[in-house]
Amino acid sequence: MLYVFSDYAKLSEEAALFIEQVGRRSIEQRGRFDWVLSGGTTPRGVLVLLAAKTPDPPDLWKNTHVFWGDERYVPPECPDSNYFMAFQALLGHVDIPTAQIHPIPTEMPEPRKAAEQYDSVFPAEPDLVLLGMGEDGHTASLFPHSGALRERDKRFTVSESPIEPRVRITLTPPAIAAARDVLVLVSGPEKAPVLRRIFADHGDVDEAPARLVRNATWFVDQAAAQQIFELRISGVARIGGDIESA
Ligand code: 6PG
Repeated sequence: MLYVFSDYAKLSEEAALFIEQVGRRSIEQRGRFDWVLSGGTTPRGVLVLLAAKTPDPPDLWKNTHVFWGDERYVPPECPDSNYFMAFQALLGHVDIPTAQIHPIPTEMPEPRKAAEQYDSVFPAEPDLVLLGMGEDGHTASLFPHSGALRERDKRFTVSESPIEPRVRITLTPPAIAAARDVLVLVSGPEKAPVLRRIFADHGDVDEAPARLVRNATWFVDQAAAQQIFELRISGVARIGGDIESA
């Protein structure tokens, strides 16, 4: 289902609510919330809002376990680190027990070993995987034509980004497929052309990897959605404007 929001602030507000609802449901059903964070800048607004809220179930954070879907192979204190962004925006402000925060171990000498180690601690069926999408259609660190896209066994592998920092650790298609819920956040006019490619009837995952999750829940803002309204996509809802479910 694709939800279109009037702007980034509305998208962030609704995404924070969505995450809290999934967390609450996961804790009610299984006693814990296994939440996989994405990197990049789009999720930052959502994390800041979550840090500022007092969650409805006061026990939300103490039963939350945080993982990452991908990471740049830099130290955790590096501003390029996805862990660094999440810590600044949320994790340093809420009482998730430190033992329940599982950064990808980018301080290991060999990225391949780090991917293997992370695979061993990553939950079999994460409750929620948060993803973003780049202008080239990548998601997590699954870039177009990358070997990681063809991985069918390992849940984490090393990938190479076309932009710095180039060495990445990323979840693979099997890891995404095992998630109970996937939420993709996309904002900004620069994403409009590739969003059209993601939701077009025909396309190739190798060219636009985010097509892997085209049937997940997408929260996009109006600016990013401006080229998809001509497509007859089933299951589009515009929130904060006229509701249009095609
Ligand atoms: C990363 C992310 C990456 C990101 C997209 C979108 O490590 O950079 O995991 O997949 O989600 O590149 O990034 P923005 O949200 O900054 O546009």
